[in-house]
Amino acid sequence: MDITILGIESSCDDTSAAIIQNGVLLSNVIANQSVHEMYGGVVPELASRAHQKNIIPVVSEALRRSGIDKSQLSAVAFTRGPGLMGSLLVGTSFAKSFAQALGIPIIDVNHLQAHILAHFIKEPDVEPKHPKFPFICLLVSGGNSQIVLVKSYNEMEIIGQTIDDAAGEAFDKCSKVMGLPYPGGPFVDKLAKQGNPMAFSFSKPHIAGYDYSFSGLKTSFLYFLRDKQAENPNFIVENKADLCASLQKTIIDILMDKLVKAVKALKVKEVALAGGVSANSGLRERMLTYERRGWNVYLPKPAFTTDNAAMVAITGYYKFLDKDFCSVDLPPFSKVVI
Ligand code: KG4
Repeated sequence: MDITILGIESSCDDTSAAIIQNGVLLSNVIANQSVHEMYGGVVPELASRAHQKNIIPVVSEALRRSGIDKSQLSAVAFTRGPGLMGSLLVGTSFAKSFAQALGIPIIDVNHLQAHILAHFIKEPDVEPKHPKFPFICLLVSGGNSQIVLVKSYNEMEIIGQTIDDAAGEAFDKCSKVMGLPYPGGPFVDKLAKQGNPMAFSFSKPHIAGYDYSFSGLKTSFLYFLRDKQAENPNFIVENKADLCASLQKTIIDILMDKLVKAVKALKVKEVALAGGVSANSGLRERMLTYERRGWNVYLPKPAFTTDNAAMVAITGYYKFLDKDFCSVDLPPFSKVVI
């Protein structure tokens, strides 16, 4: 019998629905919310309202594109957290009521686990290349930076994580200071290609173990620009590409330093990248250089790096195989749990 999962993602500012049948992706629809651009960051209340407007059309479109009738669905998987509470409530409430109306089970999905399991989404006519268990995953997004030891689809251990800001926040907050649009990560990436990564150097944290910290970098970047602009008011405009290249190199150095340490200590050479920041071209290139040192590197397809429901549906699929369903009164959660 076919196992057909509807996945729903609404943890931040993307409303997404996807259909996965027997592990193969049939559709993945994402509605982005441009309403936040003018505020330079996500406004939680506006995100929640936009999810309410988008959720039904997005789910209808995902069903239409997949050619699946809702009566064929085996279960509905939804992002339970972490994320913005008002946003999570929309996807969670929709998933529960839709599944109840159809008389099918619901599956709660951890957003971070979903980013990692995005590596296991199969697509029709695409040769699969999945990491083998156990593997180490560098999970870098707008809200999290973690090194995770992935033992199986449903067993993961956090080896290290940020004690303050996430890598994506470092990109976004520093780019805001340079006057770039929100979210700044992709703009820094693009400008960095034309700049010199050695032009400027910024402070790197000295944190024990495998944990990260990015708040010091943000402050050092801010003070550096303040001092330079006092000497030359056009400093940012004249040096934007070099600033982006140097900032990006610093963030990548910080991320890779701990990842290399973890790979050595755990003696696991299957290494994957996941999360929104894994779209960064510099980070992807740097990861691939480690193949020369014997790592097997797995980079997610760019479409599955930022928030999407395909990753929720594939996680739901593996939980369905374990009959790991949840009850209708399970509430969403906003903080990190894995
Ligand atoms: O995974 P994601 O969509 O959201 C969370 O779950 O947090 O990640 C969004 C983050 C933002 O901080 C964005 O600036 C960053 O991913 N990002 C990038 C790139 N594309 C997205 N950062 C650096 N380079 C990119 N190309």
